[in-house]
Order: sequence, then C-alpha cells, then structure tokens
Amino acid sequence: MKVNQNKEVILSMVSEGANLETASYNELYLVKKLWEQNSFLPSIRVICNGPKTREYLELIEELQGKNLKIIPVIEDTNELEFFSKYKGELGVRVDLDVKVTSHWDKKINRYGLTTDEVLKMKKIRNLCLIHYHVGSQVEHMHDLMTPLKKCFKIYAELKKHNPSLDTIDIGGGMPIPYDLQKRYGFEGLARKIIRFLQSKADKYDIPHPNIVCEWGRFMVSPAQVTIYKVIGEKKIIHGNAKKWQVINGSFMNDLPDTWTIHQRWHVVPVNHLNYSGRKLIRSWVAGSSCDSDDKYTANGTYVLLPNLEYLPEGEAQYIAFLSTGAYQDSLACNHCLLSSPAKIVARNGEIKVAVRRQTPDDITKLFGW
Ligand SMILES: Cc1ncc(COP(=O)(O)O)c(C=O)c1O
Repeated sequence: MKVNQNKEVILSMVSEGANLETASYNELYLVKKLWEQNSFLPSIRVICNGPKTREYLELIEELQGKNLKIIPVIEDTNELEFFSKYKGELGVRVDLDVKVTSHWDKKINRYGLTTDEVLKMKKIRNLCLIHYHVGSQVEHMHDLMTPLKKCFKIYAELKKHNPSLDTIDIGGGMPIPYDLQKRYGFEGLARKIIRFLQSKADKYDIPHPNIVCEWGRFMVSPAQVTIYKVIGEKKIIHGNAKKWQVINGSFMNDLPDTWTIHQRWHVVPVNHLNYSGRKLIRSWVAGSSCDSDDKYTANGTYVLLPNLEYLPEGEAQYIAFLSTGAYQDSLACNHCLLSSPAKIVARNGEIKVAVRRQTPDDITKLFGW
C-alpha cells in the first residue's frame, strides 16, 4: 500500500485476489476501514512492515483479534518484547547485507535484524514468515536471485527450530520499463525463483516454502498516466533541446521522482499524434512553479513533442507521462501553492472524476488559512 493508496487501485487489486502489505499505522487504518466495510474476501492476508509505533502495534493486535489474517513482521529488536506476547502469526525481517544495482542501493541498510541476531534467537514464537527487501527497480535479475539464495540458508536454519515457518517474503524490486528498455521478464524471474526454492527445499528435505512478493512498483505503475496541458513554449539557446514546453502542472509537485531521483518517463503527445518531421520539436518540459529544478529533460537529452507553431488555431496540446502510478501521489506536494491535478478514473469506457483538482481554498486550508 505504500506504493499507491488510491481507492480505485487498491480495490481493483484486492478484487483480483491480491494480498496487502502496509508500512505504517495510517495504511493499516485504511485496511481496517476496508475490513469493516466487508470490502475484501476474508482469505486476504495483510503483512505489516515498517517501524512499529505504539498505535501501529495496537491496531495490529486489534485486527488480529477480529480474525483478519494479519502477519506483523518484526523489524527491530525493540519490537521483540511486544511480540513475545502476541497471539497471531509473526514474520521477521532480516537485513541480508547484499548490495544490488538500483537507485536505492544504500551503503548501510537500517531495516531489519542482522543475520546473526535472527539466528541467535533460534526459536521465535508463532514464526511463519521470513522477509527481506533489497531495493526497488532492481536492474539485473541476478541481484534478485543472490539475496534469495542467502535468505534460503537462513530459512532452512530457522526451520529447524520453528516448524511453523513456511513462507519466504522476497520484498519488492521487480522493475518496470520506464525508459522502454525491458530488463528481464516477470515470468522468467518467477519461474527461476520457484525452481530454485523447489530444488533447494527438496535437497534439504523440507516442504516447499510459500512465496510472497511485494512487487509494488511493478503492479501499480501502469495503473496511472499523468496528463498535462502545454500552456506555452520558449526557445532554448544552448542545450540538446530547441524549446521548453511549459505545462499547467509541476514535476516537483506531481511527479517528484523526476527531480529527486532523475526518473525517466515515457512521454507522448495525447493529441496531434500524426505530426512528424518539422512539426515535432526536440523539447524539454518545464513545470509552472518558480523553481529551476521543476523540469523534465529526459536526463539532459530531450523528448520529441508537437511544435506549438503548427497547432491549428484555438487548439490545445496535451502530453502524457506514462506509468506514473507508483509512489508519486503520496510524495506529492504543493510548492508555490500549485494545485494537484484532478484524478480521473477510466474504466470499461466510462470516465469519472474521482478527486477534483484542488481549489485555492483546499490548498490554503493546508497552511492554516
Ligand atoms: C519492505 C518493502 N517492500 C516492498 C517495497 C516495494 O518495492 P517495489 O515498489 O520496488 O516493488 C518496498 C519499497 O520501498 C519496501 O520498502
């Protein structure tokens, strides 16, 4: 749920049989609301990751008492005391100390218990799951297989003392082709993971483990497209592109990964698609905040977009940024007090406004006015 909390996305996923993973009290609070409205099947499992505040722990306990299939994952030694008295199934997160090629390849991981800490505990009451997470948008398939191999060894060791342990949760990381360069396929990776775990479990003479994937970005990125109107253009004197196309929105606000991690997006015109040759122009796209970082330059290259000079009189140009359904909405902000875009749901040929564009009153209220 940390990847996309929009109701239409969550409900569609859940109705297709997805389980859920939360990272905070407020995300679990949403699950509680769904549970109380009978919005999902009783068989759905909820895994609770992330540092546990007192209110998060209490809500986990409350929902476990209401028979939700909830599995909190021990993240830190300071959670051990609380979970030593917990009645439901438990997971443990292990920091595998593996480095992978991805934007998020941090030198020092601050999540989970070390392998030594986990193995020293030997018996963990009601343990059913071992979890790790090595990064997001992981570039090479072997970077997802190496940690799995390491985790299996710990799983097999823990299984000796914890017969209830039956699940390996491999976290997130499956990439999506934002730049249209397909790195590796979902099916190939899934097959490799299953074959590896089957053959290893057979070798160790233990049952095949259940597998949980938290491939959030992969699941929800394609669920959203961000559309802007071009409100003007400006010549670029020195640069790889010839013109700025200025939009009625902001990268810093609406697609913050653009400036924080230099995310590349697939950008396409929404209308005037039959333009070619000189009617297209090498463009950089400028957000309409007053910030010089508010831009999309495809990392210093350019995007080819219709040249406004050739637009028929009175017509507007719209452009779309594809696969923007992961992380952007919950990171979004209101720099320069610009309004967040409306959210429009298109389903089976029907269009409905799910959230209207923020009004000046909506925004100024956020600042106490
Ligand atoms: C514990 C955990 N699981 C899953 C994910 C989702 O990762 P991704 O969106 O790359 O699949 C994250 C992302 O930060 C995470 O921290």
